[in-house]
Amino acid sequence: MIEAYADRWALVTGASSGIGAEFARVLAARGMHLVLAARRQELMDALAADLHTRHGTRCHIVPIDLADPASPATLVEEIRGQGITLELLVNNAGFGAVRDVESTDPELMQNLIRLNIGALTNLTYRVLPGMLERGHGAVINVASVAAFQPVAYMGPYSASKAYVLHFSEALWAEVRDRGVTVTALCPGVTQTEFFQVAGVPNWLKKHRSQSVDEVVRAALKAVERRRQYVVPGWINYLLSLCVRLAPRSIVVKESMKYFRPKNRGTDPNAAAGP
Ligand SMILES: NC(=O)c1ccc[n+]([C@@H]2O[C@H](COP(=O)([O-])OP(=O)(O)OC[C@H]3O[C@@H](n4cnc5c(N)ncnc54)[C@H](OP(=O)(O)O)[C@@H]3O)[C@@H](O)[C@H]2O)c1
Repeated sequence: MIEAYADRWALVTGASSGIGAEFARVLAARGMHLVLAARRQELMDALAADLHTRHGTRCHIVPIDLADPASPATLVEEIRGQGITLELLVNNAGFGAVRDVESTDPELMQNLIRLNIGALTNLTYRVLPGMLERGHGAVINVASVAAFQPVAYMGPYSASKAYVLHFSEALWAEVRDRGVTVTALCPGVTQTEFFQVAGVPNWLKKHRSQSVDEVVRAALKAVERRRQYVVPGWINYLLSLCVRLAPRSIVVKESMKYFRPKNRGTDPNAAAGP
């Protein structure tokens, strides 16, 4: 549990944009110091400078490709070498890819699994023991509403987020009596670079979405309440419940309408949408 934010350290992965950058802003405003990790150093440099000016935040920036299986160990060693003790780990770095079978690059999917599942698991098991020893701390693992159902044309992504949700909930149960909490954050559509990276840049404009601010505030509230997961926004929450009650064949067939390319295999941007 985050006993007090002020003067404690948080590691935020995927801090160069979107939800991760917003975690950095909100945590800095609450007095935390930050380790920022992602690939794009210049964005993290600019963020760190801004947070230092506004709040006096100390930031340690680690430019790193977390899809490299060696990276989590390197990152944690670097943090230890700086004498930093983590009160909060935000496993946020992740990406999705909208593709049909014929246009899927197997290497890209391996990268997705290494980042969304591998790095998150590796970092969690490297950071959690210290928190348990100290008897306080928190982990936020960023899953998705896609964790609750298979999503056609986004199969590896939705499966990776189902892993994040199950993994986090299991750990939550294991550590909850030891002063530490693990929370899976399951956002719906959120205004970030996610859909651009996923190959469907126009998708965000056509759908109801939430701001990063709403998502991050819901996450921190859930951590303070020691909840095992949170779905920001009541419509998203209700939808996450509905898919659990409906027959699985209907749920997955319904999911096809979100990302089915009009011209399958050639242009995922032409996704029909709901
Ligand atoms: N936006 C949504 O609608 C939505 C909904 C549900 C869940 N999520 C989840 O929210 C998390 C954050 O995504 P976002 O929406 O904020 O999208 P985003 O703006 O694209 O941010 C993704 C972050 O992950 C980092 N990242 C990507 N690949 C990386 C790698 N190989 N190594 C290190 N860092 C890497 C990116 O930094 P660099 O490119 O600089 O490395 C960036 O900081 C993801 O886990 C995503 O699955 C998003």
